[in-house]
Amino acid sequence: MERILLAGATGYLGRFILKELLQRGYQVKTLVRDAGKVKADGYPDLEICEAEITDPGSIKGCCDTIDVVISTVGITKQKDGLSYMDVDFQANTNLLEEARRAGVRKFIYVSALNADKLTHVAICRAKEMFVEKLKNSGVDFCVIRPNGFFSDMAEFITMAQRGRVYLFGRGLFRSNPVHGADLATVCVDAVNLPDQEIEVGGPEILSHEEIGRLAFESLGKPPKISYIPDWLRKCVLRSLQLLTKQTFHGPAEFFLTVMAIDMIAPEYGSRTLKEFFSGLSKQ
Ligand SMILES: NC(=O)c1ccc[n+]([C@@H]2O[C@H](COP(=O)([O-])OP(=O)(O)OC[C@H]3O[C@@H](n4cnc5c(N)ncnc54)[C@H](OP(=O)(O)O)[C@@H]3O)[C@@H](O)[C@H]2O)c1
Repeated sequence: MERILLAGATGYLGRFILKELLQRGYQVKTLVRDAGKVKADGYPDLEICEAEITDPGSIKGCCDTIDVVISTVGITKQKDGLSYMDVDFQANTNLLEEARRAGVRKFIYVSALNADKLTHVAICRAKEMFVEKLKNSGVDFCVIRPNGFFSDMAEFITMAQRGRVYLFGRGLFRSNPVHGADLATVCVDAVNLPDQEIEVGGPEILSHEEIGRLAFESLGKPPKISYIPDWLRKCVLRSLQLLTKQTFHGPAEFFLTVMAIDMIAPEYGSRTLKEFFSGLSKQ
């Protein structure tokens, strides 16, 4: 069985990928900055390379004897002062250099749906700059472009629990978010697929309004939805871009952009948002 190096195993998606790889019998080594997190997840005996992927010296040799690298490393919500260029671009570039030096067969990278069309957004620009490096690296590759994860949709439940869901415009933009486990299946399938780019969405296309209503339904509450005019979204986005640092406004910039377009990808998996919301509402 091939040996896989998984970078990002401590994140939402990385955890599902790790589970999927082990279930399929792959030999897995994880590249993480805190080995304790992987051990706490119930893998005391897993091979772990504890290193700082942002520091090329620290990851030297991490890809020796590895066949395939999978990286989900990227900044989502964490605030450790680093920029998307430091992590999404440069840290993944450091890993790609190691992969190339070690003669790795394939590099699988998780970008985001439509990132190639939204390069005016900082996170997308950094990811796509790395994608360009990857495409020109000479290493076989697959870029996974997932839609929003169910983990991010939990915000709808939080708003519904507080009594009101806020939507932009008329709430009519549509998307098909995906569960981490369904996405992990695609990422692991990519180890042996010829595809160089795979867009991934979940099995149901829903409008933001439908997602809001689903959140209330899961809590057994009548829906209360407020609509934020699009001019206000644009004002907030512009003000954040002008008045705050990218390390502060980056996640909001991405969110405020993708909430104003349809985000629809080919449908994968079977897990529904309704099941996910019901699980959350029972916690
Ligand atoms: N969430 C979404 O809806 C969504 C949608 C499309 C694409 N994506 C992309 O998919 C990827 C995975 O997302 P996710 O939700 O699984 O993210 P996540 O839970 O935040 O996990 C990110 C992973 O990257 C690692 N990481 C971040 N900064 C690092 C740094 N400075 N040095 C070393 N490691 C670092 C984290 O390690 P630590 O545990 O040590 O922090 C973690 O393992 C990301 O690139 C994200 O942009 C996400």
